[in-house]
Amino acid sequence: MIRIATLGTSTITRLFIEAAVDVPTVAVTTAYSRDAERAAQFAGETGLSSSTCDLDRLLSSAEIDAVYIASPNGVHARQARQVIDAGKHVLIEKPAVPTVGEFVDLISAATNAGVVVLEAMRNRYDPALTAIADLLPELGVLRRASLSYCQRSARYDKVLAGERVNIFDPALAGGSLLDLGVYPIAAMIHLFGEPDRVVGAGIPITGGADGAGAALAVYDGMVVDLSYSKITASDRVDEIQGESGTLTFDHVAEPGLARLRLLDGSVTDHSFAGPRNNMVHEIRRFASLVEGTADVATDHAETVATLRVVEQLRTAG
Ligand SMILES: NC(=O)c1ccc[n+]([C@@H]2O[C@H](COP(=O)([O-])OP(=O)(O)OC[C@H]3O[C@@H](n4cnc5c(N)ncnc54)[C@H](OP(=O)(O)O)[C@@H]3O)[C@@H](O)[C@H]2O)c1
Repeated sequence: MIRIATLGTSTITRLFIEAAVDVPTVAVTTAYSRDAERAAQFAGETGLSSSTCDLDRLLSSAEIDAVYIASPNGVHARQARQVIDAGKHVLIEKPAVPTVGEFVDLISAATNAGVVVLEAMRNRYDPALTAIADLLPELGVLRRASLSYCQRSARYDKVLAGERVNIFDPALAGGSLLDLGVYPIAAMIHLFGEPDRVVGAGIPITGGADGAGAALAVYDGMVVDLSYSKITASDRVDEIQGESGTLTFDHVAEPGLARLRLLDGSVTDHSFAGPRNNMVHEIRRFASLVEGTADVATDHAETVATLRVVEQLRTAG
């Protein structure tokens, strides 16, 4: 049994704990918060057996095998390094870190320590994305794709009211590209590999983060447009176009339905019935990596490729 402690007490950690119940080889046991009372309350509400506000003590405990990090993006690298140096496995919420260099350093530290570091990018591990990949040969030569994640954040209202909010704070690696843009980028990398180049632009909002953005990724013979926003919403479907047909699907982070329309007139609908909370797949993957029944090289390669695209877009502004 892999005994896991959680860092961070927001909604995503609750969803992680809920999803982990469906993975029999893991047990989430301990909640860490920077605040002792919050840690205890969170553990009580989520059914965990213990809580702490002492990270050093938690990491030196023989009762913990692995840590799930769900703190703000800009804190991940430091915390993940602490976890690895303590000899524990680490699953880090997306984006694992904001830069390629930081992730390469974590890989190297994890390799030396003999532990697993994995980015919790939930669409990468969702079998629905594999099912979409399996449909691609039907489309013939691929030429275009449009992938998007635009969801207006309730926390944007706080920014508009003049408050500082983590997820919109550039000092904590907030903003639309790092929070939501990484989903279409990770899906693109998973489906088509790394592009030859990317160009893009972001829309800065009060406080300096990008509230929304768009990018174009260029491949040999194909282009992919990417959209992401935390200040506007979209009803647009995701779409992949080939010379023989078009595939649309409903959500880049949790695909549920797809429609394959071929130029011969045939239309086929596909439903990817899966668990309501698709974080379960990344937890299963993490467990198999910790147990040594899978190889982490492709996971790391996809994270690095995703971060390389992110870095190019951040440099472009
Ligand atoms: N997979 C998904 O679907 C999904 C969805 C949402 C978010 N996420 C990811 O989850 C992570 C957390 O996002 P969020 O929006 O939940 O963040 P958040 O609410 O700003 O912070 C999450 C937790 O981190 C701790 N924290 C806050 N500020 C901190 C700081 N400066 N230093 C250290 N710890 C701090 C807090 O816990 P304590 O104060 O109790 O320590 C807080 O509950 C991000 O990486 C985000 O990209 C993933």
